[in-house]
Amino acid sequence: MRMVDLIEKKRDGQALSQDEITWMVDQYSKDQIKDYQMSAMLMAIYFQGMSHEEAGYLTMSMVESGDQIDLSQIDGIKVDKHSTGGVGDTTTLILAPLVASLGVPVAKMSGRGLGHTGGTIDKLESIPGFHIELTSEEFVNQVNQHKIALVGQSGNLTPADKKLYALRDVTATVNAIPLIASSIMSKKIAAGNDAIVLDVKVGSGAFMKDDQAGEDLARTMVKIGRSVGRQTMALVSDMSQPLGRAIGNALEVKEAIDVLKGKGPEDLRELVLALGSQMLVLAKQAKDLNQGKQKLLQAIQSGQALAKFKELLEIQGGNSQVVEDSDLLPQAKYQIDLPALESGYISSMVADKIGQASMVLGAGRKKLDDQINPAVGLILHKKIGDPVEKGEPLLTIHSDQVRVEEVKALLYDSIRISSQAQKPQLIHQIIGS
Ligand code: URA
Ligand code: CA
Repeated sequence: MRMVDLIEKKRDGQALSQDEITWMVDQYSKDQIKDYQMSAMLMAIYFQGMSHEEAGYLTMSMVESGDQIDLSQIDGIKVDKHSTGGVGDTTTLILAPLVASLGVPVAKMSGRGLGHTGGTIDKLESIPGFHIELTSEEFVNQVNQHKIALVGQSGNLTPADKKLYALRDVTATVNAIPLIASSIMSKKIAAGNDAIVLDVKVGSGAFMKDDQAGEDLARTMVKIGRSVGRQTMALVSDMSQPLGRAIGNALEVKEAIDVLKGKGPEDLRELVLALGSQMLVLAKQAKDLNQGKQKLLQAIQSGQALAKFKELLEIQGGNSQVVEDSDLLPQAKYQIDLPALESGYISSMVADKIGQASMVLGAGRKKLDDQINPAVGLILHKKIGDPVEKGEPLLTIHSDQVRVEEVKALLYDSIRISSQAQKPQLIHQIIGS
């Protein structure tokens, strides 16, 4: 096979075969195909697209380029949940113990990653004592015994995706739906779960800026998952503003505990119930989404979900007293209110700018070796559609520095107040039920 022929084929809008895609990814991984040819291929894919079959082959070639986690020793249907990334997304922290309390095995492996706050693992590490280092054997045993374990990423998963993603980044080819879909799905499949629930975010804080692109991405990923034998469902959900009220590591742990207690912000609860019911259906613990939702509500009301969260903390060394006393979580030195400069209704809260503000405070990482400050972040008192009086606090900044001028400027820049505004709809689409 010659790469130039494959480039020509894709350039002219033809589909590549499974053999061709497998060969290409394998050769590229071994540096037998150079970046200049792969760049041309990526650009051809960007313009010509890929069929779902092709995207499935690409996904599996990337999965096969590295280690695959073997969860076969864990009983039951293992369901993973993935979000395409938003601001203040606290859902995994809540969903993991919630569905585990209903018998769904949660064998969650997360990377640290870059972003506005840390990932789920970093958030949990803000709980004094909590550790994420388990051997594979401990990991498997813990899930079999307690239905839940959350650990850091180990192994060399999908190296071909890493290499291709880096090339896409410098060739203006990141934003192609089949490439994004295969990139995400390859990592999920290599992580070894039987079924996958995807939360595709759309809006200012998200990778996908509009509904149509979000829906396309979600449908493509569902098709890829199913074509390679992993049951997959998806939601398209709003990320025009941050989710919930807390943005920050320890602050989001407290928010997660609130939701597990049956309290917490309405939007976060709604999203948790929607994703959780899909997880229960895929794990065959509910016959449909509605029954799933009833079970989730019951698990929250009865306290069994909160008890599972405490159990997780206890088995992974965390201080479970934080559940009753959130003052045991790291606290920032200063709490600084941001007053509204006029009266009216909140008409926008640009999620990615608010995310940047939390990053400047130290809640997230710019580079992989940056340290996260678990205590800092933001608590929103207002969300889009809420009325506000001049001088009323829009939000509270939790900071270890008393001077937060840059953060305030970012925040004022992200929040608009108008004479009228409507609450955005949270869940735009439910796909694959
Ligand atoms: N996230 C990924 O993991 N891959 C992409 O290609 C885009 C976003
Ligand atoms: Ca939140």
